[in-house]
Amino acid sequence: MTELKILLRDSFRSSKKQACLLEISAAIGTANCAGAPRLKYMFGRPPPVIAAKDLTVPLPTDSVTSILARFADAGFSPQEAVALLSSHTIAAADKIDTRIPGTPFDTTVDVFDSQVFLEVLLKGTMFPGQGNISHTGEVLSPIAGEMRLQSDFAVSQDPRTACFWQDMINNQNSMTSQFKAAMAKLQVLGQKNLVDCSDVVPVPKPFAGPIKYPATFSQKDVQQACKQHPFPKLATVSGPAPTVAPVPGS
Ligand code: HEM
Repeated sequence: MTELKILLRDSFRSSKKQACLLEISAAIGTANCAGAPRLKYMFGRPPPVIAAKDLTVPLPTDSVTSILARFADAGFSPQEAVALLSSHTIAAADKIDTRIPGTPFDTTVDVFDSQVFLEVLLKGTMFPGQGNISHTGEVLSPIAGEMRLQSDFAVSQDPRTACFWQDMINNQNSMTSQFKAAMAKLQVLGQKNLVDCSDVVPVPKPFAGPIKYPATFSQKDVQQACKQHPFPKLATVSGPAPTVAPVPGS
């Protein structure tokens, strides 16, 4: 913990504070979620000099061709792009529908599990928020209070990525090791002299698994786009259909 305090103090004093803090927050924040891999923390990333130009960061309304092209520009394969999207297992939206900040992308937003890969494949019937109104960047969601990103759904259905997506389901070790490897690549992108300070990153709690269909759902609700691989057999949580609570503090 002392090392962490020194690191944070030095980050604040340095002109590099913004970029360094973002990176260490990502590594430590992820480690707070059970099931997460222990990410690396590479110290010394300088602050950005300009904002990313328009159309260089993928939008949820982009086509899969455009999304994969942006990842390829940065040296990431379609499989690595899907691996990075594992991050959406612990993510929520504030900006898609600003009236419902903190709307999670799966039913287990505090656990780094493969639930998001399953739930994005479940047929949607509603939009979260008041009035069942659609907002740019989302598609119909299967679960009350949950947001299904248009881009996640598109990637889950595209022939170039559908099997990578499906293969993540209930495959915790593969998902976390692919995510860790892709993140390690992302963390040093465009940098040469970063210092490996990964020792300060806590060891995350394990995830017991297996994952399950949310209550009332089963394989009949799956929009399976990868027909070449068998769909994993999963149990269903008992009880009534869930309503997902927003992430507090968003
Ligand atoms: C196809 C590429 C991607 C698209 C289109 C995309 C889109 C989005 C959108 C629209 C949100 C919700 C933002 C809001 O309304 O506040 C979001 C949240 C998030 N995304 Fe992605 N994303 C992509 C890739 C990634 C990658 C590669 C990572 C990390 C490795 C990532 C990590 C996150 C996280 C952590 C959040 C939650 C932020 C928060 O809770 O404030 N995303 N993403």
